[in-house]
Amino acid sequence: MTAYSDLLVRLPATPKTWLITGVAGFIGCNLLETMLKLDQKVVGLDNFATGHRHNLKQIQEAVTPEQWARFQFIEGDIRKLDDCNAACAGVDYVLHQAALGSVPRSLEDPITTNTANIDGFLNMLVAARDARVVRFVYAASSSTYGDHPGLPKVEDVIGKPLSPYAVTKLVNEQYADVFARAYGFKTIGLRYFNIFGAHQDPEGAYAAVVPKWTSAMIHNEPVFINGDGETSRDFCYIANTVQANLLAATAEHPDAANQVYNVAVGDRTTLNDLFEAIRATLEPRFPHLKGFKPSYRDFRAGDVRHSLADISKAKTLLGYAPSHRIREGLVEAMDWYVNDLSRRGEG
Ligand SMILES: NC(=O)c1ccc[n+]([C@@H]2O[C@H](COP(=O)([O-])OP(=O)(O)OC[C@H]3O[C@@H](n4cnc5c(N)ncnc54)[C@H](O)[C@@H]3O)[C@@H](O)[C@H]2O)c1
Repeated sequence: MTAYSDLLVRLPATPKTWLITGVAGFIGCNLLETMLKLDQKVVGLDNFATGHRHNLKQIQEAVTPEQWARFQFIEGDIRKLDDCNAACAGVDYVLHQAALGSVPRSLEDPITTNTANIDGFLNMLVAARDARVVRFVYAASSSTYGDHPGLPKVEDVIGKPLSPYAVTKLVNEQYADVFARAYGFKTIGLRYFNIFGAHQDPEGAYAAVVPKWTSAMIHNEPVFINGDGETSRDFCYIANTVQANLLAATAEHPDAANQVYNVAVGDRTTLNDLFEAIRATLEPRFPHLKGFKPSYRDFRAGDVRHSLADISKAKTLLGYAPSHRIREGLVEAMDWYVNDLSRRGEG
């Protein structure tokens, strides 16, 4: 039995109260679905800056009415300490996802990103500390590796940040570390690599590559690859990310807390291979994709060439064992892509 399968059996027998910030966003609403299906009580906080009411609606449809009744949603803003205090009251574990993602967004508007990601993060830390939550698990980022060229990425070896977004995620780690030292507060940072799966927004200037390309292919629109397509990333399916959060919140290893962990698969996929994987997964349902080719354009400024995680620390201290590699994730997410992304095209 893996640490995770063991946890999935134990949790429903000992229900807890979880706060998920950013609950209307991609990762947040996937966490919500899993927690409710495990019969947990969940408080959710979101201001819909980038998240969507339809994500919450889809989760409501995926769980039973009894499970949905265990969810309390607070429309609020992590930039307001009062909202954070209200959300943390009576909570056992915090899974803090709320932030403004996207490197390009932060380059265009660093102040807004800074306020949400640093002021908001500090408010959440203070509120969670004062509410005496058991553990504060937060979304960190692989962008913290910055300009360090080493591969695979190991948690202790980071470079200089390459964007305001990366600065905010590095500062989050530093604040969490200081709260551990100064107040004995227990935190765990999860450095997500490129996460993908159901409920990830395909629209807008800052959309992530997997939903953006999938949506374009379904609608027979051009897919653009920045550069020669040999840029690579460690794409990580959402189920692995959910697993990492649950294990981080509950890990009992004495050295597990007050650490940061890579959350990825430990596989490197080039953009050319990603294109082909998505195309091949969709082709049986969308015959127009037979022979479909991408369009190449210039490299995007600020993009690192390769990214690959060493996940041994999470394996050792959290018992993390990714369940899905990229193609398995694409296949599993396919029904959502087809239903949701096809529907958008009609709207
Ligand atoms: N998706 C990835 O590949 C990835 C990679 C690295 C790190 N992360 C981090 O993971 C977390 C979740 O990302 P995601 O991909 O689900 O993004 P997302 O944009 O779908 O979700 C973020 C959620 O936070 C909410 N939010 C933003 N500002 C807020 C505020 N001031 N108050 C309350 N809620 C606010 C948004 O409305 C949204 O629902 C973020 O912290 C992000 O930086 C994501």
